[in-house]
Amino acid sequence: MRILVTGSTGHLGSALLNQLKGSKNEVKITSRKKPKGIEHFEWIYSDLFSGEGLEEAAKDVDVIIHSATSPNKHSKVVEVTGFNVFLKRAQHIKHFIYPSIVGIDKIPIKYYKHKLEAEILLKNSSIPHTIVRSTQFHHFIDDLFLSRAVLNRYFVPGNFKCQSVDVNEFANHLLGIVDKGPQGKIEDFGGPDIGTLKEMADLKIKINNENNKVLSISLPGKLFKAFSNGENTNFSRKMGRITFEGYLRSKIT
Ligand SMILES: NC(=O)c1ccc[n+]([C@@H]2O[C@H](COP(=O)([O-])OP(=O)(O)OC[C@H]3O[C@@H](n4cnc5c(N)ncnc54)[C@H](OP(=O)(O)O)[C@@H]3O)[C@@H](O)[C@H]2O)c1
Repeated sequence: MRILVTGSTGHLGSALLNQLKGSKNEVKITSRKKPKGIEHFEWIYSDLFSGEGLEEAAKDVDVIIHSATSPNKHSKVVEVTGFNVFLKRAQHIKHFIYPSIVGIDKIPIKYYKHKLEAEILLKNSSIPHTIVRSTQFHHFIDDLFLSRAVLNRYFVPGNFKCQSVDVNEFANHLLGIVDKGPQGKIEDFGGPDIGTLKEMADLKIKINNENNKVLSISLPGKLFKAFSNGENTNFSRKMGRITFEGYLRSKIT
């Protein structure tokens, strides 16, 4: 089988490539920056914003795992209009796998709205596909909220609920989907625990023996309410095994 992984320099893309090294499949990869250590793969420059390289990327490929994304810059173009052009170049694909995010239909974030539009474009296309939503990755929560203490304080929206998951486990799940074939929209993939950001910050402080404290902030508005209600979690889909604590400990050793 010939597999294309887009977004090969990203967190999910890199995790996929690690697991595809040595596989029997022929693997093509895309990104704008050329990743290092990719002698196992054919790399193609491709940009969802300009459209460059999309046709060449999809050419002679059976399966696409689309992990390219741009949440902060040109999100509408990369996630929706550029994605739609990509789908037009990928009409021959036997299986298009789209990693999405739990709660995108309930949480008012522009990027999530764009991802939902992309899900709909794929659903309405004639391309055989699988759409699978994951909860946030451990590193994403860590980098976004807990990367830096200011005046010995982590300022976090402490009530936010999280069910973070290890990106390698999600990558492994996606590769299992390659073997199963197109299934449409399938059940979510969630992390093993649901906890608040305050609890996660306290855990980080304890594990790293830090002198920092957590200052929990709370704001009005639909966004805060959605995350505090845990719209980004799925209690019945605790699929990953590596906990946030396990992720933090693996960073120490
Ligand atoms: N992060 C999370 O917590 C999370 C949770 C659930 C699902 N997901 C989903 O998982 C997927 C991968 O997320 P990630 O966190 O691994 O993303 P990431 O680390 O930000 O990586 C994004 C990738 O997209 C590429 N890219 C950016 N702009 C591009 C453009 N204009 N054209 C082509 N490629 C472009 C980047 O490479 P270059 O800059 O080199 O082009 C990079 O390889 C996304 O669909 C995301 O929604 C993420």
